Amino acid sequence: MSSWPRVEQRRWATSAREPGAEGPIGHHDGVCTVRVASVDDLDRCLEVVGGLPDYFTPDVPEKIRSDFGRCRSWVVVDDGKVAGFAVVDKRSPQVAEILWAAVDPDRRGSGLGTRLVEDVLETLWAEGVRLVEAKTLDRSAGYEPYEATIAFWKGRGFLKVDVIDPLPGWEPGNPCAIYVAPLPS
Ligand SMILES: CC(C)(COP(=O)(O)OP(=O)(O)OC[C@H]1O[C@@H](n2cnc3c(N)ncnc32)[C@H](O)[C@@H]1OP(=O)(O)O)[C@@H](O)C(=O)NCCC(=O)NCCS
Repeated sequence: MSSWPRVEQRRWATSAREPGAEGPIGHHDGVCTVRVASVDDLDRCLEVVGGLPDYFTPDVPEKIRSDFGRCRSWVVVDDGKVAGFAVVDKRSPQVAEILWAAVDPDRRGSGLGTRLVEDVLETLWAEGVRLVEAKTLDRSAGYEPYEATIAFWKGRGFLKVDVIDPLPGWEPGNPCAIYVAPLPS
């Protein structure tokens, strides 16, 4: 089996991790780590979501609560505090979807989301996953806050494959962009 290409070798990677580095990375004046979430992390993750009203509607915390119990989640811990999370639904041995991802609004844009997604992708890849999906609000919605989100997924190697409006379960008028990241075989 081929090895996981380190960040400097991959088009989508912008992580601050040094080439060949293992374990925690230096991040600003602290250290960030990524670990599998436990149910004890849920309240803090919902607090992060609550701080992002421009991104998540009031019905989302209950959905995340349900998905958290059903799926595997990861958290990124910065300076000892959970700063962000990702919830992943494995659809088959080779396909997974990142259902939810968020970083504390005070810490967005400092590389934590990249580190989180990179670690999740690496773990999934090691398990045999070769395609990862993420859904987001499409640019055609004309909603400025999601420009950064779209840039985030594109920058991590996700490619837009379709736009669906209405997507079942989403409010009409919220075009859903389907992004996928192919992982190395
Ligand atoms: C999307 C999100 C998880 C990314 O986490 P993050 O820690 O902010 O991401 P990073 O710091 O690793 O940023 C990586 C890229 O995201 C984009 N980005 C992140 N925050 C941004 C901001 N405030 N303004 C503009 N671009 C931003 C940039 O393209 C950046 O790329 P660059 O590093 O090459 O400049 C986080 O910003 C977030 O929680 N956003 C709101 C909720 C959301 O949209 N969740 C995803 C729903 S599909």
